[in-house]
Amino acid sequence: MKIAVAGGTGRVGAHVVETAREHGHEVVVLTRGNGVDLVSGVGLAPALDGVDTVIDVASVTTLRTEDAVAFFSAVTRNLRDAEASAAVGHHVALSIVGIDGATEGYYVGKQAQERLVEASAVPWTILRATQFHEFAPQMFANAKLGPLHLAPKMRTQPIAAREVADRLVELAEFGPSGRVTDLAGPKEESLSDMVKAYARATGYRGWIPAIPLPGETGRRQRDGSALPGPGAQLGHETFAEWLAGQA
Ligand SMILES: NC(=O)c1ccc[n+]([C@@H]2O[C@H](COP(=O)([O-])OP(=O)(O)OC[C@H]3O[C@@H](n4cnc5c(N)ncnc54)[C@H](OP(=O)(O)O)[C@@H]3O)[C@@H](O)[C@H]2O)c1
Repeated sequence: MKIAVAGGTGRVGAHVVETAREHGHEVVVLTRGNGVDLVSGVGLAPALDGVDTVIDVASVTTLRTEDAVAFFSAVTRNLRDAEASAAVGHHVALSIVGIDGATEGYYVGKQAQERLVEASAVPWTILRATQFHEFAPQMFANAKLGPLHLAPKMRTQPIAAREVADRLVELAEFGPSGRVTDLAGPKEESLSDMVKAYARATGYRGWIPAIPLPGETGRRQRDGSALPGPGAQLGHETFAEWLAGQA
């Protein structure tokens, strides 16, 4: 099968590309570094020539509602239109557990993405996953106040990005399935503890205060809204195992 991976150099995208190649698929990577701008659409049409399935794991780093909605709407519309023109048979999108009910921030962009995928004429699959174990290094790098690293308080049940990638490739091989069972990690964790453990593992010895993020996003992070429901499919690798496996 020929698979295009939108965001194929990202945290989960690089694993999707690797897994798909291991399974013998021909893979096209849709990122700006590979000549495709998913927001403007430049380079997209020729890149989809002969593609059977698109796996969309593109993302933007923002907490601003307008920016998230603008990014995910533009990317999803451009992919939808280019896929229809190229007779792509399947669009697989990765979303996030617990986005329902959010009225601000990044999750509103994910809601817009899901609505566009569901209304598309291109047959689709949507997988919602929880935060990746890789969310800890992401927070350590991005949650900063001047030189001070912050550890946001959040209840999460994180999963290895590698296991999410394996599931996405499996779904691509299976064919259009609509909204499938949510995917989560094996065990609930505290995000602030994850960030601190990651920092210590890298040799960082500074003080990292655990802080509640303000507003609705912060409240939902703390109240368990991001946790999977009882029917979720669970991955295997715990955060501690993942951390031990990092160089
Ligand atoms: N991180 C998590 O914990 C988590 C949990 C559950 C679900 N998700 C979802 O998983 C998906 C991937 O997240 P991630 O954290 O793996 O993303 P990421 O590491 O931030 O990677 C984003 C990817 O998107 C590409 N990209 C960004 N802007 C682009 C543009 N204008 N044109 C083409 N490519 C562009 C980037 O490549 P270039 O910059 O080189 O163009 C990169 O390959 C997202 O949909 C996210 O909502 C994430």
